[in-house]
Amino acid sequence: MRIAVFRDAQQADRIGAEILERIVREKAHPKLGLATGSSPIGIYKELVERIRISPCSYKHVSTYNLDEYVGLSADHPQSYAAYMREHLFQYLDMLPNHIHIPNGAAHSIEAESHRYETLLREAGRLDVQLLGIGLNGHIGFNEPGNHLSSETHIVALTEGTRSANAKNFPSDEQTPRHAITMGVGPIMKADSVLFIAHGEAKSTIIQEAFTGPVTTSCPASLLQLHPNVIVLLDEDAAAGLL
Ligand code: F6R
Repeated sequence: MRIAVFRDAQQADRIGAEILERIVREKAHPKLGLATGSSPIGIYKELVERIRISPCSYKHVSTYNLDEYVGLSADHPQSYAAYMREHLFQYLDMLPNHIHIPNGAAHSIEAESHRYETLLREAGRLDVQLLGIGLNGHIGFNEPGNHLSSETHIVALTEGTRSANAKNFPSDEQTPRHAITMGVGPIMKADSVLFIAHGEAKSTIIQEAFTGPVTTSCPASLLQLHPNVIVLLDEDAAAGLL
């Protein structure tokens, strides 16, 4: 695990975007595992800026998102599909059938989990998985517990995760209670993991995840076992490690 600490979040985001773009430029058929939430927004912004300065085609790229809220269709403004369009996809020349996000509004959520898992298996090893971390140590929506699932599954979001996400919804009632998430299998099998976190609020869980025991009570601690993790932190997020 390589941990890089930057004076501010924008410098970390810039390096994150450079790493992703290098994979896109070098690989014939790059497979990118993508994340949502506030943490990767800066990386996406930097990527878009880089493309504006030096055009780069994404026609050969396939993307696989970590998760989606159950009950939200791709055109719901708070869905992760809408987030990806807003922050990244609208600026890229990607082929629509190369974009993969679980369908939170599927008639059968179980069948959708199965479909997404099959898709991930057919895709094989991802070149990179971009990850943020929840305040309780979740990665994707793999919440802490007695066990972790390696496959795509439906998860009941913890109250802590719901309240962290509530800012994006008009009311508590409308904040989703469930999500479909990639399991830890494809994350741990990815060629590389690009982990990003900003801000003091993440410092305690980052210290726990990267210096504490490897345990299902802190899913991000599993990353200690991955052979190729790049951790990009600003000084505030790294406070517990310095
Ligand atoms: C998002 C995801 C989550 C977030 C995590 C942190 O696709 O899978 O694990 O990365 O909840 O969210 P932010 O970045 O909003 O603090």
